[in-house]
Amino acid sequence: MVLKRKKESYKELKIVHGVFDERTLMTFYRLINKLDISAISMLEEGKEAVVLSGLRKEKELIIIKVYRVEACDFKKMWKYLVEDPRFKGVNKRTHAVVKIWCQREFKNMMIACAAGVNCPTPIAFKDNILIMSFIGDKGVLARRLIDVRPDNPKELYKMVLENLRKLASAGLVHGDLSAYNILLWDEPYFIDFSHGTTLKNQNALELLKRDIKNINSYFSKLDIAVKDPEDIFKELIKLIKSKSE
Ligand SMILES: Nc1ncnc2c1ncn2[C@@H]1O[C@H](COP(=O)(O)OP(=O)(O)O)[C@@H](O)[C@H]1O
Ligand SMILES: [Mg+2]
Repeated sequence: MVLKRKKESYKELKIVHGVFDERTLMTFYRLINKLDISAISMLEEGKEAVVLSGLRKEKELIIIKVYRVEACDFKKMWKYLVEDPRFKGVNKRTHAVVKIWCQREFKNMMIACAAGVNCPTPIAFKDNILIMSFIGDKGVLARRLIDVRPDNPKELYKMVLENLRKLASAGLVHGDLSAYNILLWDEPYFIDFSHGTTLKNQNALELLKRDIKNINSYFSKLDIAVKDPEDIFKELIKLIKSKSE
C-alpha cells in the first residue's frame, strides 16, 4: 500500500491497522490527507462502527466514524435502505450497501443541521467513512444521555422535543433516537443519523413512534411529567407533512 503521509504520522496511524480492511485503510489515508487531519486517536470500537477523533488543520477537533464493512450486518442495512425511496436501487453487495448507509447518515445530518437541529456538522464522507464536527471541547467528549444523570431534566426534555420539532419541520424522522444517541454538552445533541428517513418510507411512522417512546421512557425515569406520546406524534406528523407537501 502506498502511503503519502510524513514518516512521523505512520506511528500514530498504527492504531487503525488491523482494525480496518485494506480498502478502508486506503480510503482512510486519502481522507485524512485531503482534509489535513492529524493527532488521530481511537475513541470507540463498536461492533459495526469505529469512532476516532482527530485534529483538522491542527486546530479543529473532528470525529471520524468508520463503518466496519466486514462486521456490518449488510442484509439488515439493505432491508432498511430499500424502504427509503431516496436510495432506490441499492446494490446488495456488502461494500455498496455500507457506502450508501454512510452516505445516508451524511445526508440526514446535513438536513438536520440546516434545520437548526443540535447535531454534529457533517464535514465529508467517502465510501464507509464519515467525518463530522466533534461535540465536546479540548478533547473532552460530550457524554451520552444514558451515561449521565442530568440536573435539569425538565429543561432538557423541552430541548429534546424542540430538536425533534426542528427535525420534523425538515421532513425527517431520526429513526434511532434514544438516550444512547443523544450527547449532552450544555445542550442535547442528536447523533447517529443512519436510520433517518422521510415519510415516503413505509416504516417512518413506526420509527417516529419508537423515537418518541424512547425519549419519554428515559425522561419518565427521571420523574418528569412527560407529554402524551400520541400528542407529540400528532404534532410531529403535522410538521413533517407540511414539509412533505
Ligand atoms: N460528533 C461526535 N462528537 C462526540 N462524540 C461522538 C460523535 N459521534 C459519535 N461520538 C461518540 O461515538 C459513539 C458512537 O457513535 P454513533 O454515531 O452513535 O455510532 P454507533 O452506530 O456505533 O452507535 C457515541 O456514543 C459517542 O460517544
Ligand atoms: Mg449510536
